[in-house]
Amino acid sequence: VNTVYVNGEYTPAEKASISIFDRGFLFADSIYEVIPVYKGRIFFLEKHLKRLRYGLTETKIHCDIADREFKELFIDLIDKNKLIDGQIYLQITRGNTFNRNHDISRPMRASVIAFTMNIPYLSFESAQNGLHAVTLEDTRWMRCDIKTTALLGNILLNDQAISHGADTTLLIRNHHITESAAANIFIVNDKNQIVTPPKDNQCLPGITRDIIVNLANQAGFIVLEQAITEQVLFNANEIMITSTTKEIQPIIKINDKSIADGKAGPTWCILFRLFQDLKSSHG
Ligand SMILES: Cc1ncc(COP(=O)(O)O)c(C=O)c1O
Repeated sequence: VNTVYVNGEYTPAEKASISIFDRGFLFADSIYEVIPVYKGRIFFLEKHLKRLRYGLTETKIHCDIADREFKELFIDLIDKNKLIDGQIYLQITRGNTFNRNHDISRPMRASVIAFTMNIPYLSFESAQNGLHAVTLEDTRWMRCDIKTTALLGNILLNDQAISHGADTTLLIRNHHITESAAANIFIVNDKNQIVTPPKDNQCLPGITRDIIVNLANQAGFIVLEQAITEQVLFNANEIMITSTTKEIQPIIKINDKSIADGKAGPTWCILFRLFQDLKSSHG
């Protein structure tokens, strides 16, 4: 049985509970993080905590747990659950005032929960099969830079993709691609430059995205953070998506049209390997 964390206590997963008046439940008034663990060690914790702090500030959620305490909590969960390769899930809601009221002007005590997950990371052989994507209009709100648990937009978009028989979706706003419903996007354009949309209110500032930008720069690629039109997307040599759980995966088909030769491309191969090397060397 898994051990989970709820507001200062460790409990068996099936005994854990939260009030029906918690604002996370009533309003999705809440933010979260998914943090990778490799060989029992947390990967780029500081970057995840920095994004968490940004989310707390932007949502005005008050949480008095220090970074050092989060780290101890995560290490405890890894130990208690004997986690080797997986993820830590952390959620912070604005709290609970035992009523249902939009007003947030009075400070509340945040609710904090955390648990470990075992979503498997793909091997090179599995990942290179590639994903099929469909393009859909990005119907989400204009603060996609906040990692909120209000994910109904993402969930319905993802469901449209799955219903079309695809694996994932690429979201379009004003004829430009923003991201995937649960990942950031990279393309390799016809000049062999790597391009990813800039970090703004239309996409999540992905930690994996940042790591890939750094790895690609270090490897000598030209990396551009600029808007990508639908037309550039369809003419790309390669398309890849990045996230904590997916790491970096190639998209080989969009709306039943093959991208380039319909196989995982050479840039993806290099970036996948570099990412695996970084995982192995990361202490
Ligand atoms: C909408 C969205 N974009 C991007 C990402 C990738 O972020 P990260 O690399 O930090 O996991 C995620 C992760 O779940 C996401 O949900």
